[in-house]
Amino acid sequence: MLQRISPASAISGRIALPGDKSISHRYAMIAAIAEGETRIRNYSTGADCHSTLACLRALGVPVEVHGTEVVIGGRGLDGLRPPAGLLDAGNSGSTIRMLSGILAAQPFRTRIAGDESLARRPMRRIMQSLAEMGARIAAREEQFPPLEIEGARLRPIDYVLPVASAQVKTCVLFAGLFAEGATSVTEPVRSRDHTEIALAEFGAEVRVERRKITVTGRPKLSGRELEVPSDLSSAAFFLAAALLVPGSRLTIAGVGLNPTRAALLDFLSGMGAHIRVTDLDSHNGELVGDILVEHSALRGGEISGELTAALIDEIPVLAVLGAASEQGLTVRDAAELRVKETDRIRTVVDNLRRMGVAAEELPDGMAIPGRQKFRAAELDSFGDHRIAMAFAVAALVAGGESVVHGAEAASVSFPGFWETLGGLAS
Ligand code: S3P
Repeated sequence: MLQRISPASAISGRIALPGDKSISHRYAMIAAIAEGETRIRNYSTGADCHSTLACLRALGVPVEVHGTEVVIGGRGLDGLRPPAGLLDAGNSGSTIRMLSGILAAQPFRTRIAGDESLARRPMRRIMQSLAEMGARIAAREEQFPPLEIEGARLRPIDYVLPVASAQVKTCVLFAGLFAEGATSVTEPVRSRDHTEIALAEFGAEVRVERRKITVTGRPKLSGRELEVPSDLSSAAFFLAAALLVPGSRLTIAGVGLNPTRAALLDFLSGMGAHIRVTDLDSHNGELVGDILVEHSALRGGEISGELTAALIDEIPVLAVLGAASEQGLTVRDAAELRVKETDRIRTVVDNLRRMGVAAEELPDGMAIPGRQKFRAAELDSFGDHRIAMAFAVAALVAGGESVVHGAEAASVSFPGFWETLGGLAS
């Protein structure tokens, strides 16, 4: 699908966005192995989270979808059934990596794979820990999907994560639910902690001591009613659009502001963005609030070290803001971007250059000088949702009509993205 985007004169109004992708995956997977029914409101409409639901159905879990409300009939820790065929994780790294933690503990063999992009994403990071726990996993070239997982009675482990990854942490903690005793994960830097919060909500025993998280195996998990906050990583595109387009004033309601995700707001404020958070509340242990943002002149900055991990999904759209900022943006310590849905260092730099914006590709990041103007261009999502949405934002301040090829990729996390953006732009 090809999407045309004209320059906007303001981005204004009040919007609510689909549910958080990270939280939706976790709620659905834990609900599947809990006892009793779980009702999830504002479940993500993104294709990725629906890939998770499809995999759960294939494992014998009753799943009903009524708009954005999802009802899951928990099967208990020992109630999953062998799937009839290959599990399809679609484009979703979260689905394959996190669900593997549960599959590794089943008394049956499963095969799980996804689309072309997923087939290139590294899985060794989950295979090592699950093998230590006693599961046998085979992969294409020993590291890529499809994965063939031979479940086992798992042993608890104390695992030191070699990469900063909430998906790998979650995989090990999920596997730990099935092992007798305590399983711990120590992280190099603190990553998003939705799993820890969600497990505690369902009744698991979770202990967090600085960067070490411990779960006790064989907990009693009970189905419950949950509400997913709006996705801050989706909000990032609208925040960026309002910051860039003069005359903008936008409110985004009910956004997830978990401190392990909200580094984005601090970073933007540090760049000079006018952002205010109001109506703070808590839903199921997750902080939620409204964000008010206005067009602002941005100073620019550097993203490196721990900050890179905290902003990893937002870097494509921050790169766009960086080019328009006073001093530009440098991103370091971000080699991980090369193994996301696309090589996001390459796809960001490629699209920036198409718009006449200078950008240097570094092995572990990029350097983008500031005070640059965007030229209208033919852009490409390269099949990556965050690239499609980041460059839709850039196109709002280009000199004429731009085109995004492969615009349908946005639906991986945000199916209504183009309509929502169109409704705000004037
Ligand atoms: C996610 C963790 C991050 C992030 C991804 C979602 C999660 O990946 O990039 O979009 O929900 O745990 P890593 O865990 O690989 O860093």
